[in-house]
Amino acid sequence: MATIQLVTEVPGPRSRALWARREAAVPRGPYNATPIFVKEAKGAVLMDVDGNRLLDFAGGIGCVNVGHANDAVARAVAEQAQKLTHGCFHVTPYEAYVALAERMNALVPGDFPKKTLFANSGAEAVENAIKIARAATGRQAVIAFEDGFHGRTLLALSLTSKVHPYKAGFGPFAPEVYRVPYGYCYRCSYNLTYPSCGLHCVDVLEDVFKRYVDASQVAAVIAEPVLGEGGFVVPPSDWLPRLRALTQRHGILLIADEVQTGFGRTGRQWAVEHSAVVPDILIAAKSIAGGLPLSSITGRADVMDAPGPGGLGGTFGGNPVALAAAAAVLDQMQDGALFARASAIGRIVSTRAQAWRERFPLVGDVRGVGAMWAVELVKDRAKRTPAKDETAAVSKRCYERGLVTITAGTYGNVIRTLMPLVTEEAQLQEGLDVLEQALA
Ligand SMILES: Cc1ncc(COP(=O)(O)O)c(C=O)c1O
Repeated sequence: MATIQLVTEVPGPRSRALWARREAAVPRGPYNATPIFVKEAKGAVLMDVDGNRLLDFAGGIGCVNVGHANDAVARAVAEQAQKLTHGCFHVTPYEAYVALAERMNALVPGDFPKKTLFANSGAEAVENAIKIARAATGRQAVIAFEDGFHGRTLLALSLTSKVHPYKAGFGPFAPEVYRVPYGYCYRCSYNLTYPSCGLHCVDVLEDVFKRYVDASQVAAVIAEPVLGEGGFVVPPSDWLPRLRALTQRHGILLIADEVQTGFGRTGRQWAVEHSAVVPDILIAAKSIAGGLPLSSITGRADVMDAPGPGGLGGTFGGNPVALAAAAAVLDQMQDGALFARASAIGRIVSTRAQAWRERFPLVGDVRGVGAMWAVELVKDRAKRTPAKDETAAVSKRCYERGLVTITAGTYGNVIRTLMPLVTEEAQLQEGLDVLEQALA
């Protein structure tokens, strides 16, 4: 039996009624990718308020790699909520914080002592990582990448590249942020071709150190191993190692932003494992706690200890209920089966997507790693003109037919897939059928 079961048009009457209330009561700032109000979710299946059953290829923007309402996560949350919902780590610390820090320290790459701080969101993790890097190096500048996304708080937003809708009207931004192109070969800023380019996009940093900021003033380079919001851009395999070598030459810390790529999404615990690069600080969020708000900042112990007592933290950071959920997530990732599943999902999605590129001129590029695959849509293949309206139309057609997808890319012309890693093969094919029909 098909998973998608629609009993009304989508959005149905109850969703539409809630939409009217939402418009009256909630500011328009928080964007909604769909007008579908969800009531329940399990695994990869969403039940909306009208009784429609939909397939989820968005996972709440990649936050439920272990599936919606994961049984072990739900049990851990319920048990913990009966015992201690909030202690505030700064007032009366609790073992769960220390225990999960120990697990993260063991899990993050690097053959050196590590320490972990917990916060509530990806943006908070970014903010803390930069504070720590500045305190550890005594330097102020930060290098970030074009098409990168790091969150919506002021410093994270300053590091974020996309102007509309994220930055426009919200300045002034934090100073000492410098930006260079990412390893985005499909839209190379230098009109070069890999590998004959010699990874000019990394080497250009040496030029930046001459023209804009001295290397001795740069605290950190913050990089997503694969661009998330930027459109699932997978850089060449030697891009991150080259960047790592360059940062080491100049005593600059490398912060890996694994908020979207982490926790199994790319077929490994961390995306940096694909290139064996060891960052100084690695941040995670999204799928870390199976849908509960939690983020982590893990790094070299000496670096992490640079800020003094009271310099880091926050009232809710490392909430015990979220930590219990994260421990249940990690238990399920231990045997590696979910990582293998991510790779299997990726093989299926990429096979279908490569066929779409053959069939539909609209599909300009197909790229991804593990279960992080996307199609970039263009109006004209030769000119690579972004097909933003068509992308929005495809996404709309999908949800009207019961498949929730989200878009990405600086030009809004990428459809990305962030389905839970527990999505069954039949469900995957069913969702891909809907996407294929929408593209057709
Ligand atoms: C790579 C990356 N960093 C940071 C963030 C910000 O995370 P949050 O929305 O939890 O603040 C995101 C969110 O999409 C992200 O993809």
